[in-house]
Amino acid sequence: MNIFGVDIGGSGIKGAPVDLDRGDLADERYKVLTPQPSTAGAVAEKVREVADHFAGSTGPVGVTFPGVVTHGTIRTAANVDKSWIGVNAEEMLGERLGRPVTVVNDADAAGIAEMAFGAGRGRDGTVMLLTFGTGIGSALFLDGRLVPNTELGHLKLHGHDAEHYASAKAREDKGLSWKEWAPRVQHYLAHLEMLFSPELFIIGGGVSRKADRFLDEIEDIEAEIVPAALQNNAGIVGAAMAAATAAGMETSAAVSAALAAESRTPNG
Ligand code: BGC
Repeated sequence: MNIFGVDIGGSGIKGAPVDLDRGDLADERYKVLTPQPSTAGAVAEKVREVADHFAGSTGPVGVTFPGVVTHGTIRTAANVDKSWIGVNAEEMLGERLGRPVTVVNDADAAGIAEMAFGAGRGRDGTVMLLTFGTGIGSALFLDGRLVPNTELGHLKLHGHDAEHYASAKAREDKGLSWKEWAPRVQHYLAHLEMLFSPELFIIGGGVSRKADRFLDEIEDIEAEIVPAALQNNAGIVGAAMAAATAAGMETSAAVSAALAAESRTPNG
């Protein structure tokens, strides 16, 4: 039927079953606050709470993580507890949930969802998705193929990580209006454009809902700039897509395979 997706963020953990044919949530998402400190054990408990909220959901689970993830292992943790580093999150969460788990970087997940179902659909060439939230995440595509774990939120601007200057959290922490924040985003995009010359920038994260407040203020960028169509749900959708791929499912086959998994469960 549906594949379950969970998005682990610096402030919230949210999840929902995803309809992979439509590329959209199949149910209203459920959100809990990220525990502080956001240790691996504490976050895993919350991921289980989110998954358990949807009693009828079984089968593979896709999870996003706000750091570098290679083969399921967490390599960096800029905005969550450092105890995550070195943890094989696929194994750890898989044991906790009793279901197969696939873990991918949060921006990469949002990117694959936008390329398949959203603002990047059918777009060739170099496309860059950026998520503006607690940090800045990046997903880089060439002709629809992802270059994983690009970490462009840590490029240096004015001698500091770009995410400390231009993330949504930086806007809130510094009390900037959308208009005051826009030049920071512009400065960051100009730097990325100088380095990568993408054809399209997709602006994701929570700020994509407020795109009308700041996108018009951004000038002097050659590339097209559009808000993420799936907005802040892109991570959940992309996580589910990654889990379906890991389980060897095509999008529509994913649905039937998950249905088969559900029919095998004793009370499913
Ligand atoms: C992390 C990235 C992540 C981004 C958005 C950055 O601090 O290093 O891996 O994608 O925040 O959460």
